[in-house]
Amino acid sequence: MSGVRRELRFLLNGEEVALDDAGAGDSLLDFLRLRRGLRGTKEGCAEGDCGACTVLVGRLRGGDVRYEAVNSCIRLLPSLDGCHVVTVEHLSGADGGLHPVQQAMVDCHGSQCGFCTPGIVMVLYALWLERPRPSEAEVRRALQGNLCRCTGYAPILRAAAIAGDYGLPETDKLVRGREAVGARLAAMAAGGRVELAGGAVAVPADADDLAAVLASEPAATMVAGSTDVGVWVNKDLRDIAPAVFIGHLDELGRITEKDGVIEIGATASYSDAEAALTEAVPGLADYWSRIGGWQIRNMGTVGGNIANGSPIADLPPVLIALGAELVLRKGKTRRTMPLEAYFLDYGRQDLAPGEFVEAVRVPRPAADARLGFHKVSKRRDEDISSVCAGFMVRIDKGRIEDARLAFGGMAATPKRAAGAEAALVGRDWGEPAMDAAMQALERDFTPISDWRASKEYRALVARNLLMRFYLGEARTGSP
Ligand SMILES: Cc1cc2nc3c(=O)[nH]c(=O)nc-3n(C[C@H](O)[C@H](O)[C@H](O)COP(=O)(O)OP(=O)(O)OC[C@H]3O[C@@H](n4cnc5c(N)ncnc54)[C@H](O)[C@@H]3O)c2cc1C
Ligand code: FES
Ligand code: FES
Repeated sequence: MSGVRRELRFLLNGEEVALDDAGAGDSLLDFLRLRRGLRGTKEGCAEGDCGACTVLVGRLRGGDVRYEAVNSCIRLLPSLDGCHVVTVEHLSGADGGLHPVQQAMVDCHGSQCGFCTPGIVMVLYALWLERPRPSEAEVRRALQGNLCRCTGYAPILRAAAIAGDYGLPETDKLVRGREAVGARLAAMAAGGRVELAGGAVAVPADADDLAAVLASEPAATMVAGSTDVGVWVNKDLRDIAPAVFIGHLDELGRITEKDGVIEIGATASYSDAEAALTEAVPGLADYWSRIGGWQIRNMGTVGGNIANGSPIADLPPVLIALGAELVLRKGKTRRTMPLEAYFLDYGRQDLAPGEFVEAVRVPRPAADARLGFHKVSKRRDEDISSVCAGFMVRIDKGRIEDARLAFGGMAATPKRAAGAEAALVGRDWGEPAMDAAMQALERDFTPISDWRASKEYRALVARNLLMRFYLGEARTGSP
């Protein structure tokens, strides 16, 4: 570690900001609106659901500045050290007038009351930077995390489709200024660990420094993408100090593959992990697009989804079915375990004080593996699962050799269906085996009723998902 810096530094549109008074739970949205008067960014839900607060955050990744759409209401200030925050006020066209995306929205009548519009414009801007001429499917996916209550989406979809006719990214100031901004960000981020609020906020310099921070503050709240933590702060008014911010630690977010095992670093976001996992695991792409909206997928991390220990988190059932292994680290000591062993009970995980999730290792499924991934929720987009499931079955000459069936929403933790698995293994792949497994499922789980789903509904859905898997949803593994 090369010293401690006592101010946070980031670029806000064109201006350098240095803050020595950012608290652990201070949101970017409040900072923009209340301290900087940048009120183009709106507050709707304050929990990451509506997209009204969308801004772009650019960060140096592998020497280049990568901009992503994020929800500023749940993005916490200390996570922005060395970043470029871009708000709707920064947008302009090459001639200084409206930006192509804004002009397209005007011409297509994409706005009525206008409350959602800045957030929608920012998402469409992020999309236009990547794909100025997107397909309708790409636009719909980009807008999953943006609610518009009055315009209706058809004019917005039309605006997104034609924004590229009004100008291309080559002329955009973020694109033209990328190198210069990259140099400024690199200079700003220099200087080792950042500590604020008398040590109540730590932004470690690297993974070793994180281990050192946790050694001295083992009870500190770790904040990765803050898609859970930001909601606790805003909705439960939870004081998260002391907090240690880890989302910027690229060495903790690497995705590598060796000997058929894909290792995903804990701070890899859903968006980061998507390409590697959906390429290796057939059938996972549709499931992936059901996780949050685009902004949430850009922020939320694989490690956070696991570490949080939620019984309705979407990744654990999938990763457990694939036979994933979890890597935990404390100081310089690492230990590994099957992912399912990490979840001990509701709200209780096998994580010692000062220990953190370092990575998850996912074996590529065998070529003959049959795979199924399902999420059942009330809404298609941006909703929490009532039940989610991951299945992997291997069959040899018609006989079931191996079965891994994991569910979320059925118990106090993500959990394998041990009885149903046992009912399958050794039998012929056919309806009698499936019937036996469906009956065993009833003994495997005693789901609860809550406002999301009744226990009877959950039990029925779990059985039906298994039958659906058998009836044709099963896909063949990667060649
Ligand atoms: C609008 C919205 C939609 C969502 N949709 C979905 C969805 O569809 N499916 C789904 O599964 N989830 C969803 N979530 C929940 C959330 O996105 C995930 O749980 C996310 O993966 C958490 O990751 P994070 O990096 O944001 O975690 P954070 O909020 O930063 O942290 C979550 C918890 O994990 C701990 N933690 C984080 N990283 C580590 C680590 N490396 N080691 C040890 N502890 C760690 C933190 O201390 C904290 O207790 C949604 C959330 C929101 C706000
Ligand atoms: S205010 Fe709704 S997502 Fe931020
Ligand atoms: S224009 Fe009114 S909510 Fe979208």
